[in-house]
Amino acid sequence: MTHTEWTPAAHELADLELLLSGAFHPLTGFLGHDDLHAVHERGTLADGAPWPAPVTIALPEDTADEVTLLDPEGVPLAVLTTGTLKVQGLNAPEHGPFARLRRTPEQVRLQLAGRDALAVTMRGPLDDRTEAEIAATAKELDAVVLLLPLSYGEAGPAVVRAALKSKDRLPEGTEVIPVPLAPREDPAIDLELREHVAENYGATEHLAGPEPVTLPGPPHRRGLVVFFTGLSGSGKSTIARGLRDALLESGSRKLTYLDGDVVRHLLSKGLTFSKEDRDLNIRRIGFVAAEVARHGGLAICAPIAPYADTREEVREMVEAVGADFLLVHVSTPLEECERRDRKGLYAKARAGLIPGFTGISDPYEEPDDADVVIDTTHLSIETAVAQVLGTLQGVGWVR
Ligand code: ADX
Repeated sequence: MTHTEWTPAAHELADLELLLSGAFHPLTGFLGHDDLHAVHERGTLADGAPWPAPVTIALPEDTADEVTLLDPEGVPLAVLTTGTLKVQGLNAPEHGPFARLRRTPEQVRLQLAGRDALAVTMRGPLDDRTEAEIAATAKELDAVVLLLPLSYGEAGPAVVRAALKSKDRLPEGTEVIPVPLAPREDPAIDLELREHVAENYGATEHLAGPEPVTLPGPPHRRGLVVFFTGLSGSGKSTIARGLRDALLESGSRKLTYLDGDVVRHLLSKGLTFSKEDRDLNIRRIGFVAAEVARHGGLAICAPIAPYADTREEVREMVEAVGADFLLVHVSTPLEECERRDRKGLYAKARAGLIPGFTGISDPYEEPDDADVVIDTTHLSIETAVAQVLGTLQGVGWVR
């Protein structure tokens, strides 16, 4: 099947918006191989025009000559010509927090009508000193102040709120225009790109606001996902349940429990045990767990989760919302799980009645990144639960 529609990643959609609004002028599309090479080598485009940063998009291999780029809700935003990577806008992205404040560089430049402008790009709140500096510089230059909160990502709305607050303390006529510029890894490139965007918005001077200091809250306030993985019958559900009960008894944290078998009754009902469906099952669990953790809750998950890549994806999903992830490998060997065979499934699997059974006729990739490893062969449940609880208390996740 040839792809005629494609939903880019969040940071690619942010770049798309800047390409379409003219904030990335003179770019009118994503960078192809030659431009990327030139940017990397000399900080210019292939035609020699200065350009600080790679602006890229990852497309599936079987892409048609023209692809419609969709937002995650399926709204077509632009048509991309595959050969040149040029984009043609269809619908302006009109939702998202503070969408009403967004303006194109052209609109802002028209409004400035030739006046000098001091643009301040912000990724965090401005402190008193910076605000004073801005006010003084604007006065000296007789310039309009443009606050450009870089509104991409989780912290985006908070940065816009900070800019609106600063506006009240800055000279009359100060404007707040959110710009969804995703941060670049290299701070020098990030700064150059901010300068470039500010210039397109009509800035004659640019000031980069102070870097935000994000102090993670204390561990017991942070979201946490305790993710058990292990073979069927390894004891992971039993330990997970024991942990859940101990935490409920102490009442120390808000809790969500996502056991593998339980999840398959509703959230993942209908999924099979193919690799594809197992991955989907784990991603669903990861999605819910990350939402719980986003709000500071604790999620306990206990599926088999046989694939390392998928477990890693869940770790990334959780860390992306600023929460912590603890991988507990219940490493009880297959022989012991099979000897116990509490649900009689191993016998059936051996008899060929359950095809693709994990450990027998389907893979289990042992984690090499587990934070806790527990083999329950010679261990009581109480001891196993105490071991996990001890880790949670040790780090301060529970008190
Ligand atoms: S996972 O692979 O997608 O993580 P999950 O934890 O949801 O698996 O479900 C595992 C449970 O489903 C096992 O404990 C067992 O009771 C049951 N099960 C049924 N068929 C299989 C199978 N082919 N492989 C493993 N478990 C199976």
